[in-house]
Amino acid sequence: MHIVSTIMQPPNHLAATTLDAAAWKAICSSSPSMWERLCLEGRTFAIRNGDGSMIPLSSFADEDLPPLPDGIRSFGRFLARNSVFANIAARRPGREEVTFYCLLGKAHGRGFSRLLDAFLQRVGSTPMNWRRQMVVSSIRAALFDVLRSRASQPFSFIDIGCGAGFDGLDITRILLEAQRRGFPIPMHRIINIDIDTDWLSLNERLSSALFSGADQDVILRRNISIFDYLRGGTVERDIAGVSNLIVSCNGFADFCDDASLDSLYGGISRIAAMIPGEATVILPIATRNRSQEFFSHQVGFRYLAREKEYILAKVAHHFPGMEISPTFAHSQVCCVISKRP
Ligand SMILES: C[S@@+](CC[C@H](N)C(=O)[O-])C[C@H]1O[C@@H](n2cnc3c(N)ncnc32)[C@H](O)[C@@H]1O
Repeated sequence: MHIVSTIMQPPNHLAATTLDAAAWKAICSSSPSMWERLCLEGRTFAIRNGDGSMIPLSSFADEDLPPLPDGIRSFGRFLARNSVFANIAARRPGREEVTFYCLLGKAHGRGFSRLLDAFLQRVGSTPMNWRRQMVVSSIRAALFDVLRSRASQPFSFIDIGCGAGFDGLDITRILLEAQRRGFPIPMHRIINIDIDTDWLSLNERLSSALFSGADQDVILRRNISIFDYLRGGTVERDIAGVSNLIVSCNGFADFCDDASLDSLYGGISRIAAMIPGEATVILPIATRNRSQEFFSHQVGFRYLAREKEYILAKVAHHFPGMEISPTFAHSQVCCVISKRP
């Protein structure tokens, strides 16, 4: 197997003590996370590097966005013309730019445009940002568990519809800091899957700007649709020899029809079951909410909200015998599924 080992000796003054909750908190907050580094340079999303330089990501200036898709009616066009948030959501539906605009949480424009932008962000960003927090805290909790009790076993993280792949970069940052403080870390791989080559390239650029040679080698990218990935044999090769697994899928399932959602959840469950140790699967998804759906659909951001009970039944159906912990807020549900050995 080709899992990269990054084990090395810590400097003496950083000899490890017990990895308890306080030590873990200190490790996670020892340097800014990817989301804390996210900023704007004009109308370009960028990452603030440790040396003060900027790594530009994607621009939402009008000339850099694709045209409005056909079929948007006059009210949707009005929203897109008068709110930066609506404009990005209309022209880049289901893409990372929408998430980033929400995360920064700053209204743009003047007068009425600014008020409209702030209003639409309250409707749309609040649920997206809650989900992001849930994903970050669930991944960190699962990673803490791996480091405390299974640090000698190979581990993988799979990010489905990774976009910029901030989650994998954050795991790398945390593992390197844990190692620096003398805690043993597992041999590991980060596998980022996305159909969008632009965002995968940006992930590569970020990884090489933030980490040194061998530390970047653990981050792999798969430019393939998740449906092909899950059934094509690549996933078997990627998880060969892996004892423990964390899978996250944020921001993609909302755009799947029922048959695709079955195929997605069924495929994830199959790989979780193949793991000999523990698998943690983090699945946030939207539930019904009239105003969220109304404004999104007006601008052509056609995500599919479902009834809470329907989602819970689907998750229970696809992950039998696994522990399912759902959390609800802002018309979203985040299911954390644990498969024990
Ligand atoms: C809203 S973004 C979410 C990015 C990231 N997971 C996050 O939480 O910020 C959804 C991503 O799913 C990707 N995507 C869409 N269809 C896909 C497919 N069939 N297979 C893999 N990725 C897909 C898009 O390219 C996009 O980058």
